[in-house]
Amino acid sequence: MIRLQNVSKRYRSAAQGELALRDLTVSIEEGEMVAVVGTSGSGKTTLLNIAGGLDRDFTGTVEVGGQPLARLSDRALSDFRNRTIGFVFQHFSLLDHLSTLENVLLPTAFIRGGSPVPDARGRAIELLDRLGIGHKAKERPTSLSGGQKQRVAIARALLFKPRLLLCDEPTGSLDTTTGQQIIETFQSLNAEGYTVVIITHEARVSTAARRVIQLEDGRLVDDGRAAS
Ligand SMILES: Nc1ncnc2c1ncn2[C@@H]1O[C@H](COP(=O)(O)OP(=O)(O)O)[C@@H](O)[C@H]1O
Ligand SMILES: [Mg+2]
Repeated sequence: MIRLQNVSKRYRSAAQGELALRDLTVSIEEGEMVAVVGTSGSGKTTLLNIAGGLDRDFTGTVEVGGQPLARLSDRALSDFRNRTIGFVFQHFSLLDHLSTLENVLLPTAFIRGGSPVPDARGRAIELLDRLGIGHKAKERPTSLSGGQKQRVAIARALLFKPRLLLCDEPTGSLDTTTGQQIIETFQSLNAEGYTVVIITHEARVSTAARRVIQLEDGRLVDDGRAAS
């Protein structure tokens, strides 16, 4: 599903020789649930942004679902991303002036060439129901708890039935119990067939994943099964 080969990344503002990723080669297969761990600054977000086609400024090659991302124009890449990948972030990235339902439908404003799902509104409502927040469809995100906001963000990520979910510290702003529920949601999505990659520095999240990739200083230092 994801194939990174010899990927190195230096931010433009960084000093010569200071690399955020150092010759990283890693593959994630369809259907896997993978935790990416490592201390702050180890390169986790950089890795996710590159694997998700959000950052094209690197050396090496990246393929997602068999598609080499470098072959796509910027527009084609963003279309590919919208149809193939769902993103979930720590701070939810919801728009407060829109209702919950409108937030879930937001990707329809950016898709070119027709919606990948025939009835986006119907699917959005179904996803909100399924995530236990159907009763909040008309409310603004400001009236929701952190856990509810993250469920809205997950529903939005799932709108177009992506093959891959990329999550950057999705429980980082949540209390332990709520975070656990969100992780269980990702586990059940994985059981349904979604490939899930979760960046975290919480041990309880990495035990939920079947595979843990550890980064240190932009390098892969461990790639193994979770100890549980
Ligand atoms: N936009 C940026 N500009 C310059 N340096 C950055 C930028 N983003 C991240 N870095 C640097 O790249 C390295 C990896 O960062 P990051 O991928 O955000 O790590 P993590 O997500 O593991 O905390 C760090 O040294 C960080 O300071
Ligand atoms: Mg990060």
